[in-house]
Amino acid sequence: MPRRAALVILGLLALPFVLYSAGFGLRGLTADLSEDTRFFTTPLPNALIFTHMATGALATCLAPLQLIERIRIRRPRAHRVLGYVTLGAATITGICGLGYIALKGTIGGTLMSAGFALYGALLLLAAANTAYHALDKDRARHRRWALRLTVLALGSFLYRLHYWVWYAATGGAGSNAAFTGPFDLFNFAGFYLPYLAALELWLRQERR
Ligand code: HEM
Repeated sequence: MPRRAALVILGLLALPFVLYSAGFGLRGLTADLSEDTRFFTTPLPNALIFTHMATGALATCLAPLQLIERIRIRRPRAHRVLGYVTLGAATITGICGLGYIALKGTIGGTLMSAGFALYGALLLLAAANTAYHALDKDRARHRRWALRLTVLALGSFLYRLHYWVWYAATGGAGSNAAFTGPFDLFNFAGFYLPYLAALELWLRQERR
């Protein structure tokens, strides 16, 4: 019950970002946003960044849904079908995000690009392993990789959540428009690495 409540709260918190990302992605793919956003440039980077926003939104809301035990046990077919959609969305998000970084970099420069590129690579690794161990019928490994994938799928939301909470608490200390403040530097990888480390500690304890 507390786990279900935590999932519901997380879902409600992430919903505005998911809707923003899906809407922004779909608008960028179907309309001329050159007047509205720096992300709208030339056709290939446009396709990469806006596709990644739309599929990223899908992965962010579907990955935690896959953790709901009731659906997994009572509706295994739905779990399998949604699982493939989640893995497909995560894979497209990772590939498009990496492609965009290769072509355009990021607003924060080399360190931000490196943090985001590692994020994309880990997302692809987690998606591939989740699929592999499902097909291999190794439930324990499938579950561990699916949990890692969920942490990563939520990462993009956590990146923004860190900023919201930090600005609300400190007014933006250690953060600036050029993304060179200590808080900005921390958050280049701080939105996924600490959570992955905490998950690994928890999994280790669980195995003992
Ligand atoms: C997991 C789900 C993801 C969602 C929902 C998502 C969503 C978004 C959104 C909405 C933006 C626009 C920025 C804004 O308006 O705040 C953005 C920017 C960006 N995303 Fe993602 N993203 C996801 C995953 C990823 C991954 C895995 C990568 C790396 C491979 C990535 C790389 C980028 C880059 C490079 C930018 C532009 C950064 C900049 O220069 O400002 N994203 N993302």
